Amino acid sequence: MAERKATELMERIVSLCKRRGLIYPSSEIYGGINGFWDYGPLGAELKRNVKELWWRSLVHHRDDVTGLEATIIMHPTVWKASGHVDTFTDPMSTCRHCKKLVRTDQVWELLAEQPWGQAIAKLCPGGQYQRQPLWQWARGKGIRLAPGLALICNLDAVLARLDAKAAQPGTLPQTPEQLFCELATLDPATTGQVTPCPHCGGELTPPRRFNLMFKTNVGPVESDDNVAYLRPETAQAIFVQFKNVLETSRQRVPFGIAQIGKAFRNEVTPRNFTFRSREFEQMELEFFIRPDEVVAQLAGAVARLADLNGAANLTQPQPNWGWEVWHKYWVEERIRWYESIGLPRTSLEEYWQKPEELAHYAKATVDILYKFPFGTQELEGIAARGDFDLTQHQKTSGKSMEYFDEEAKAKYVPHVIEPSAGVDRLILALICNAYTEDLAPDDKGKLEPRIVMRFHPRVAPIKVGVFPLLKNRPELVRKALAVRDLLRPHLTVFYDDAGAIGRRYRRQDEAGTPFGVTIDFDTLGEQGPELQDTVTLRDRDTMKQERVKIDELLPRLLPLIR
Ligand code: GAP
Repeated sequence: MAERKATELMERIVSLCKRRGLIYPSSEIYGGINGFWDYGPLGAELKRNVKELWWRSLVHHRDDVTGLEATIIMHPTVWKASGHVDTFTDPMSTCRHCKKLVRTDQVWELLAEQPWGQAIAKLCPGGQYQRQPLWQWARGKGIRLAPGLALICNLDAVLARLDAKAAQPGTLPQTPEQLFCELATLDPATTGQVTPCPHCGGELTPPRRFNLMFKTNVGPVESDDNVAYLRPETAQAIFVQFKNVLETSRQRVPFGIAQIGKAFRNEVTPRNFTFRSREFEQMELEFFIRPDEVVAQLAGAVARLADLNGAANLTQPQPNWGWEVWHKYWVEERIRWYESIGLPRTSLEEYWQKPEELAHYAKATVDILYKFPFGTQELEGIAARGDFDLTQHQKTSGKSMEYFDEEAKAKYVPHVIEPSAGVDRLILALICNAYTEDLAPDDKGKLEPRIVMRFHPRVAPIKVGVFPLLKNRPELVRKALAVRDLLRPHLTVFYDDAGAIGRRYRRQDEAGTPFGVTIDFDTLGEQGPELQDTVTLRDRDTMKQERVKIDELLPRLLPLIR
């Protein structure tokens, strides 16, 4: 039930995104292309705001972070050194029945979303074999929903095998996964246990590794000698340019390099709208720190997380911080930033990866998760990567990545903390967070349903709607255009004179515009001089209106959007 509600909510959100010009399927007139999405007029503004706020908070508002903008295609050896050529893979299986490709580690997740998976889970709660309901389903709806499932293709044989198991205590499936495999297997003696295709129930092939990098060729001739890759992350360019940035920026460790840009991954199963796309953008920071031995040498002792009383005092970096404290500091900084753009802390979760889940180079990784309607999923990963990347590039290129620390009078390869966020996932989180349905009065005061996108004013695509009360009164229109021109150099304004004022408010509510300014007859001084040059300022969320002098609009609004 909850799952159906979440699916319906996502459908409404996807539909609003299309209708209001937030996000469209790429190349839609040709049927779209799976895993690629375009941002429409409102989406493009939203995305620019998010990237601008990230950049401003990290690069402009700090002395210890500097920016970089590198190319998407780099020397292919970068990806050999980083390990991506050899290990940036996902396990993939093909369905022998419907021929679809499936990421093997996502089978159960995908199956839980499919009507046939949900039907069997309901008929056999907890994976307990229920002969009669299964038999009925397999002769009815199951034929259409799971045509590749062994139970559907050979009902008698599969049920006979399960009946025989039922007669032998302890041999029946104990979990839903085991039951699904049983129902997908026709002849265990020849195929072993079959894992079902989430799409049709057919037999999946054993997994094979599939490299996620998109390949291309540089130059007019396609050959193995000029293969290059579209970058699967922006981070590697930062490591490769570490020395250049160090020399030209005159930064001293600890310091960071930030980059925003496109990344490409040939995901086996792009899904959940833009959440897992094949082309997306990342906002990555590589923050270089002293190795703990150097901190100990300089500060006497290294502050560790256990020495500190909670995370509240982690706002001012200290010279005795070891990597653990820097890592937690960046987790806190990033959560504070998400809060500043309207994602409440309660909508986020910190997931500290278990030692067995860590990538081989990571000392610790925290995923910041957002509670999407389709599940609580990763928004950003913050990894303590030690000196793995710089050392790899040093070994492979033969160029030193060492830093001479004047204070410590020592040379070392800096260690790194990497907060790595996905722009598109964040946009999706902001959209899901903003989406609200409520009731609002129409022009006659009758309550009608409204969709309102409660974007934080900082990220809202349009900041202010400007409306002349009537479009056929030139003096109102003249004044409204003057207000628009006054505001426009400082914030994004949408001027709208079409239709009843209530409908215009409603359109801006759906676009997530936090403020509305209406120019009426009072503005012209027709009701008395005291109201002349005042307008109504409407708040999207409370729908309250107040009279404000035109001169006061900018001082009122600017602090709210910056
Ligand atoms: N440099 C580290 C790195 O790339 P990652 O966890 O693979 O780490 C970082 O990616 C972030 O990039 C993720 O938290 C997510 O927000 C975003 N991301 C990764 N793959 C994505 C995809 N296929 N579609 C959209 N965003 C993705």
